[in-house]
Amino acid sequence: MTRDLAPLELVITTADATHTQRLPATGRLTIGRDPQNRVHLLDPSVSRRHAVLDLGPPLRIEDIGSSNGLRVTTSEESDGTARIVERRVSPGHSMNIELGDGMQLGATLLIVQRVNADDNPASSRVVRSFSVPVVHDGAMRKLYELVDLVSQSGINVLLLGETGVGKEVMAEAIHRRSTRARGPLVCLNCAAIHESLLESELFGHEAGAFTGATRAKPGLFEVAAGGTVFLDEVGELPISVQVKLLRVLEERKVLRVGGLQKRPLDVRFVSATNRNLEDEVARGVFRQDLYFRLNGVTMEIPPLRERTSEIEPIARSFIARAAVQMNMRAEPRLSPPALEALLGYGWPGNIRELRNVIERAVVLSAGGAILPEHLGLGGRGSGASSAGRKSSPELVTLPPPPPRPPSPRAVEQAIAPLRVPVGEDERQRIVEALELCGGNQSKAAEMLGISRRTLLTRLDLYGIPRPRKNR
Ligand SMILES: Nc1ncnc2c1ncn2[C@@H]1O[C@H](COP(=O)(O)OP(=O)(O)OP(=O)(O)O)[C@@H](O)[C@H]1O
Ligand SMILES: [Mg+2]
Repeated sequence: MTRDLAPLELVITTADATHTQRLPATGRLTIGRDPQNRVHLLDPSVSRRHAVLDLGPPLRIEDIGSSNGLRVTTSEESDGTARIVERRVSPGHSMNIELGDGMQLGATLLIVQRVNADDNPASSRVVRSFSVPVVHDGAMRKLYELVDLVSQSGINVLLLGETGVGKEVMAEAIHRRSTRARGPLVCLNCAAIHESLLESELFGHEAGAFTGATRAKPGLFEVAAGGTVFLDEVGELPISVQVKLLRVLEERKVLRVGGLQKRPLDVRFVSATNRNLEDEVARGVFRQDLYFRLNGVTMEIPPLRERTSEIEPIARSFIARAAVQMNMRAEPRLSPPALEALLGYGWPGNIRELRNVIERAVVLSAGGAILPEHLGLGGRGSGASSAGRKSSPELVTLPPPPPRPPSPRAVEQAIAPLRVPVGEDERQRIVEALELCGGNQSKAAEMLGISRRTLLTRLDLYGIPRPRKNR
């Protein structure tokens, strides 16, 4: 690893803000609540002397006897399967880490990255994936209290809610607060993986099970032993795989493809969908027996327009984070009229859309205050007019195109959504986004601030051929 190319910095994310601290090239840095630590954290859930970061090489983190523990999270992606693996470091023990890995101390998340790490996809992915949820709304507080309750049992949980409301964030919270938190959290996006690969991906295969299977490979359910499996977009599971998944859930045993011996299953399932699964059951495209198995407890996350008290705190946390990611010296100020515009908008794409709008606005504000024109909301979708109108993700409107940025080159390098040309119509923006993402639908959807499912609906609507899956 060429660590001499650029200095390292520590990204420190708390519930309210994100900031960075430059790191020396070598040495051992103590981290804790006591001001004498080299990395001083104000979080009350962090111990006085919590951990030591050894800058190596290799980079290592050690728990020096914390009360609330230390967890390290890494994220890998292949074949459309995102895996988030989380491990606990026991007190007195240490673990090698990579740049971009998440280190969770109490409620604070730390990430070591290179300064100017705009082009470091691993770190931005981790910062995005392991955000600490901002929870202010009364209904959301109650839901997170329920998260604490269900976490303590092994019951399967089904998360419902429109696109971008925070289903994945909640799935992660369920895992982290559960007795399985020491085990891995493995996420599978059921919509992003081809049916032919799903079975061996979930259940694993033995050597020689099919052409190309030269070595035995454990499936996700084995990898997740002792932890949690998050089945995202579970409504997209093909019927053939639903049948097999149901059998696994009933028997609590997994048989690898081409295998003879069943292995015990030791995972808790959290599933999510923005579809109405009861309707899908009624239409015969989702098995009722599987629905009952996955749905030990259902938790429905309200859309952002129904929890307007969270718009401001979440927006401020995104401003803080975006400023860090863009290496700005200070966070831009949110002007009162811009805040008013945020509060008056309907947010069909929910928190994901809010994040994209804020990231764009932080760039466009160029270090000054964020003004309404930087948000590009243009008087559309007021809370009142859109409330109740949008109940299905198919009706999501794309976030409006941003105004033309002041210095396109610098801006384009800083942030993905701006790579979509401005002022074009929606169809054109989708085509461009797909082109820029090499046909990767998940990335294009992310860039456009909509869910992959919505993107697929739009492709059909505009008659844009679906790109071939990248394998
Ligand atoms: N309470 C929260 N506080 C701060 N950020 C949040 C919160 N909830 C969600 N987010 C952020 O909003 C974005 C969307 O969240 P998430 O991916 O969990 O939504 P989702 O419901 O799974 O969406 P989809 O249905 O499209 O998969 C992410 O960037 C996430 O970090
Ligand atoms: Mg999701």
